[in-house]
Amino acid sequence: MSENCKKAYITTPIYYVNDVPHIGHAYTTIIADTLARYSRLIGLDTMFLTGTDEHGQKIEEAAKSRGRSPKEYADEISGKFKSLWDEFDISYDKFIRTTDEDHKLGVHKAFETMHAKGDIYKDNYEGFYCVSCETFFTKIQLVDDEFCPDCGKPTSIVKEESYFFKLSKYEERLLQWYTDDEKCILPKAKKNEVINFVKQGLHDLSITRTSFDWGVKLPEKMNDPKHVMYVWMDALMNYITALGYGKDDANMEYWNGTTVHLVGKDILRFHAIYWPAFLMSLDLPLPRHIGAHGWWTRDGEKMSKSKGNVVDPREVANAYGLENFRYFLLREVPFGQDGDFSQKALIDRINSDLGNDLGNLMNRIIGMSGKYSNLVIDSTNVMKYHEKEIKDAEAIIDTLEPFIFELQLNRFLEELWKVLTIANQSITAYEPWAKIKEGKEEEAMALVALVANLLAKVSVMLSSVMPKTCASISDALGFEITPENFNTIIKDKKLLETFTIKKLPALFPRIEHEELESPEPKVASKKEKKAEGIITIDQFFETKIKIATILEAEEVPKSDRLLKLKVDVGENEPRQVIAGIKEFYTAESLAGTQACLVANLKPAKIMGLLSEGMLLAAKDKEGLSLIRPESPKRSGTKVG
Ligand code: MSP
Repeated sequence: MSENCKKAYITTPIYYVNDVPHIGHAYTTIIADTLARYSRLIGLDTMFLTGTDEHGQKIEEAAKSRGRSPKEYADEISGKFKSLWDEFDISYDKFIRTTDEDHKLGVHKAFETMHAKGDIYKDNYEGFYCVSCETFFTKIQLVDDEFCPDCGKPTSIVKEESYFFKLSKYEERLLQWYTDDEKCILPKAKKNEVINFVKQGLHDLSITRTSFDWGVKLPEKMNDPKHVMYVWMDALMNYITALGYGKDDANMEYWNGTTVHLVGKDILRFHAIYWPAFLMSLDLPLPRHIGAHGWWTRDGEKMSKSKGNVVDPREVANAYGLENFRYFLLREVPFGQDGDFSQKALIDRINSDLGNDLGNLMNRIIGMSGKYSNLVIDSTNVMKYHEKEIKDAEAIIDTLEPFIFELQLNRFLEELWKVLTIANQSITAYEPWAKIKEGKEEEAMALVALVANLLAKVSVMLSSVMPKTCASISDALGFEITPENFNTIIKDKKLLETFTIKKLPALFPRIEHEELESPEPKVASKKEKKAEGIITIDQFFETKIKIATILEAEEVPKSDRLLKLKVDVGENEPRQVIAGIKEFYTAESLAGTQACLVANLKPAKIMGLLSEGMLLAAKDKEGLSLIRPESPKRSGTKVG
């Protein structure tokens, strides 16, 4: 980001309201928050946008299965996102909801503008649709002629009248943009994937649906009330409607500044192909960077509701500290690559990087200045004894900013930590305690002041990642982290004025691995393996059994045995279970009843239908009975 550019516009994806916030959402939002905070720190007029994506078939179905109206349901889940971000002190300037009336105005304006330009035409759509991904596919893209290539769920055949956007018209211009603007899509490897995709040829995009209702209707002047906007056409527009597009353009000047969109790799295609093509059609500038991050796995496995291994960001932040969690997320994985979340890795980062490298340093200068100078720290002799250390640190800091705006936050932190290494190594090399014994007090004091100055620089640079921690450090060092002090300490490279250091409690108390609430599963010992048929309690609990409420049941056509059930196990979306119980239960008798479900079985296909769990039942010669709780229990209650 250049200095002349005075406005920064940072966005997260708007989150679907069919799922409560998890670590993936927190990750994108924390990266965006870091960028926004850094932009403000360096004096850019910054707008940070997040929000929720509330229309579409997926939300309509999720609401219906809970007996709620889509709007009621969207209100509830959108509120959960907003309150988590507030709890996490996410510094967003606007929280947009696609159900906002102002947003709809902007979507209408965009549709009308594209239509007037001849970029929208009406035709018939015939193809396949994945509701879960809200994506259209052609037959050759499907797995086994039926399943979504992205999420593996069954697709449905769609044959309906639709308006199309002339995406194919923009193929050449998109390719030109990718070539001309080296950093428009980050990281580079992801950009190459996009280029290869576009080079295979772009089909025009169906941008309206008639088979469901929950969406933005077409503008009245189109006189075609049965159509609603395709959810991505609606959702992508949020980035401009949030600035007043279609209403009063009140904040559209941010769109002419530096725009950075943060997205996950799964939604890069929508952002790197559809979105710039829409913008070209609207004659609006293109974003500066679209950054695609990788996915988080848990202890090496893909996170999924059925495995019950989804990381709840609130739980982690409560257990280990919000800012430690932020640091871990940004430091642990190179941007764009998948990362693994494990408590062990998190604790190691806290103890090592934060505790040993940063926290100890703070303690040491508080201790030393307490002993040698009554807590007074004076920078007068720093350059006399430590010019090299200061210059080396400044040279590192001078290289840091591009890492932030080019989204290499792990590199940013890695480099910044080299300044802490300089500080820690200087203490070891100069042994201030020995200098004191030798009567070289001036040198000892200069060393303490060197470390204080290095810590001051680090706290300013680190403040967008760990705002509160850095505010405590800077407060102890007698200054506040502000854009003015960024200029003084980082840009103008000024040393701290004489100050009295404040004592601080340990910033990162050590966490012992034994304190882990759920230790990594132990590998069974040989002895355990020998006792055939006997399992340990841990092995038993590997099977997750939960109370399932049967919401709907229907017969599977052409099967004598199977019923197709929709069951609620306390997750955001009901699961589909195919159960071989038709000889013993009618579909009508099951709806509204409860049974026990093995919830962490690998999903399987039975007669081509996805089954996400197994109901427990007992069968003898008298027949089969489902295993049910004696009295009703909350859906999702653990059995065991
Ligand atoms: N509503 C769309 C975005 C529209 S933007 C105009 C959407 N929403 S989402 O809620 O499904 O996903 C939001 C983000 O969460 C995506 O960027 C996605 O990559 C991210 N993640 C979902 N699971 C994730 C992980 N396990 N790990 C990291 N991020 C992941 O898509």
